[in-house]
Parts: sequence; C-alpha cells; structure tokens
Amino acid sequence: MPIDPQKKMDLLVSLCKRRGFVYPGSEIYGGFANSWDYGPYGSQLKKNIRDAWWKRFVECREDVVGVETPIIMNPKVWEASGHLDTFSDPLVDCKRCKHRFRADHLLEAAGRDAASTDLSGIVCPDCKGELTEIRNFNLLFKTFVGVTEDAKDVAYLRGETAAGMFVAWKNIRDSLHRRLPLGVAQIGKAFRNEITPGNFIFRTREFDQMEIEYFVKPDDGSAAFETWLGEMKTWCEGILKISPDHLTYHEIPESERAFYSARTIDVEYAYPFGVKELYGLANRTDYDLSRHQEASKEDLRFLDPETNERYIPHVIEPTWGLDRTVLVTLLEHLDIDEAESATGDAEPRMVLRFPAVLAPIKVAVLPLQKKGGLPEIARELASTLRSHGITTEYDESASIGKRYRRQDEIGTPWCITVDMESASDHAATIRDRDSMAQERVAIEEIPGWIEERLSKI
Ligand code: GAP
Repeated sequence: MPIDPQKKMDLLVSLCKRRGFVYPGSEIYGGFANSWDYGPYGSQLKKNIRDAWWKRFVECREDVVGVETPIIMNPKVWEASGHLDTFSDPLVDCKRCKHRFRADHLLEAAGRDAASTDLSGIVCPDCKGELTEIRNFNLLFKTFVGVTEDAKDVAYLRGETAAGMFVAWKNIRDSLHRRLPLGVAQIGKAFRNEITPGNFIFRTREFDQMEIEYFVKPDDGSAAFETWLGEMKTWCEGILKISPDHLTYHEIPESERAFYSARTIDVEYAYPFGVKELYGLANRTDYDLSRHQEASKEDLRFLDPETNERYIPHVIEPTWGLDRTVLVTLLEHLDIDEAESATGDAEPRMVLRFPAVLAPIKVAVLPLQKKGGLPEIARELASTLRSHGITTEYDESASIGKRYRRQDEIGTPWCITVDMESASDHAATIRDRDSMAQERVAIEEIPGWIEERLSKI
C-alpha cells in the first residue's frame, strides 16, 4: 500500500526509535543535534549491508583488495589533496534570526543555478530576514594531536576515506606486485562539519563511507567507468532491491563537475524529502596521485610489466554512503498492508520487507504457549539455528498476533511457531513475512530449509 511521502519520514523515524533501529543521540542529556545511535536492529542491518558490500566488491573479486587507513593522518595529506583550500560549502547567515544555510541549497530551491554567487532576492526561509554575503566554510573537523593546542599540533579528521587509499597506494603497489586494473576498497568513518545536516541519517557530521579507488591504465578510464556504473546499478537494484523507478543516474554536466573529474554520475534516490544523492561515481583521472606525488616527492608511478612504461594510473571512484544505504533500505522496504487481528477483523500491519540477506533477524522462534514443553522445544530449535549462523530470536511474550506484528516491524522474513503437535509430529509451522503463508516443516529440516532460501538471494 503506498504511504504518503509527507508521513513516511515521521513514520520511519518513530518506528526506528520504537523498535530499536536508530535512536536520537545523547538523548538523556537533551540530545545532540543530528547525532544518532544505531540500536540493536539498526547496527545489525548496517553490518549486514557492510558485509554484503565487502563480500561482493572485495572477497568475490580478483581485482580489488581491502585496506583500513587512519581517520587522523599527517595534515600534509589534506594540503596536497586540496581539501584545506577547496573542501568547503557556501555559507550564508540570516542577519535577523541568525540561522545558517547553504547558499547552493537556497539557490536550488529558488530554481536558480546552485553554483551562482548572486543571491539577489533570496531571503531567510525561516524569518524572511536579510542574508549575509556568501562565505566559504571549510568542512574538515580540526583537532589537536598531543598535549598542547599549538598550531603545529593541528590535525584533521578525514573528510573522506578515499585519501587514505591514495596515500597507501605506494605500499600497496610495492607489496602486491599486481597488474592493473587494481581496486583498493575501504569502509570507515568520515567527518564533515556540515552547515545544514538533517533529514534523519541522510546528512550527518560523522558517517560511514564504502569507497573503491580503481586504478587503471590511463586509456582504460572510460571503459572502467561504464563497468562500475553497471556494478552500482546491480548493487542498488539486485542487492538492495530498490525499484528502478526510485533511482536516477544523473550525469553531472562539465560546468558542475570538480575540475579534475572527466566524468561524474550521481546515483540519486527519490527520498520523501526530494530526489537527492545516494552514491557517486567519478573518473578522477590522475589528479590525486599526481598531487600526492608532487607534494610527497615520492615516485607514485606504476611500472607496466607489459610495456616497461612508467605512468601515473588513472582512478575510477565509485563511492557509497553506508548510512544513506541504511536509510534507503528502510524507506524502500517500509510498507503497510492488512493482516487479520485476534478478533478476525482486518487491521493495518506495518512491515519492513527487507531482502532476507539484509534482514537483521532472519528467524523468530515462537512457542504458542509457555507450558507443555513448548518453550524447551522452541529454545532448542533457536539455539540450533544460531549454531548454523542464522540470526534468531526466541520470543514467548504476548499473544502470537502481537509477536508476529513485532517481527514484521523489524523485517524478520520467517516466524516459526512451535505448537501442541510439535512434540508428537516433530514439526513446526513456518510463516512467511510477505505472503503470510504457512508451511509445516520437520524441525530437523528447518535449518536446511532456511539456509536454502538464504543462499538463493
Ligand atoms: N571520495 C568521494 C566522496 O567522498 P562525496 O559525494 O562527497 O564523495 C560520497 O561522498 C558519499 O558519502 C555520498 O554519495 C553519500 O552517500 C555519503 N555522504 C557524503 N556526505 C554525507 C553526510 N554528511 N552524511 C551522510 N552521508 C554522506
């Protein structure tokens, strides 16, 4: 059943808090704007997405390796990468109410060129007050390393995970002796002092990225770009099961691209608050390695074993925001349909129809009664399923209808009911989350039944 977009975000934010996906951060201290805690189901969902990504793009590929580089690096990295000079957003303040906005967002909302520096006619959206001139605001978070807070001890929290992979390139090249193309992947936190964070976990000041720097021969950039575009589509539509109707592959025109990018596509999603960026894909040419080679005075070229030529590899960079992926997975699969209540009437049912591999809990085992030996059979089954690596919950509280509703709301694909016959027929009933169809399966065959279905997805 389609959900009104205006209501969808409120519904989702309240479901996330009520059911333990995402809570407001620092809440007992009155909260802390735009910080969020991932609860038990949210952190498991995030882990499942992270694992699916790592498996698909690192473990299952011959041409990609994984790394983990630090959040705080030598500050010279950010000088060389250009982040200290150009990693900024255009900021304006309201002279009256002092609220702060991104000038490009205000221009975009007014249907004007977001890159313009002329705000003429645009006033504060909150109080209609006059706005200041546009200033550039650097997004890197500053910190101090060591016991003093002198300028010489200034360091930065990384603004993207990518930089760590360029800096480690020389060691990766020298330790692996691989041919090109060679991709380097990393998952980790990035930090940006965003002027206007918001929309739940869409834009926050700390977030996780999953990035690949795919190093290729200089002439192979365009073909590799196409290949990664295909990979990103498969990830969105085949793994996350996002409807193609909700996705846009937006070719960024040259006038709006970073000057070093030969081609950029933003993968956009139709969020309830508008069509906005989900992921990005860029042909960064030899820009990053050239900058680091110049600044570090180290030779970062690649010696081609086939031609004996030395060159700086070009880089195709597909980048995925992990928290945005969690948000989109929740939004895409949130649904309301109808189920039969205890009195036999139809009542609304909220359900998260996650693809089973991503669901935080795969199976709930529910004894129909708290007596008659049913809890013992159910607990033993739950423990067997866990020993097969299947995330399983045991729940004996409340009525069976309420327990089903709870599992539907956290997106559990299968509920297994142990009933009075289970002791004699050694079988239990498996209920499918989406169709609500029920099937009687021998208890000893249940782990295999679940594994078979999980392996097909
Ligand atoms: N290395 C390239 C890079 O960092 P980006 O478009 O600035 O590119 C990549 O960021 C992805 O990181 C975005 O597509 C988005 O998914 C995610 N992201 C960026 N800023 C974010 C923020 N403030 N909060 C949550 N996710 C963010």
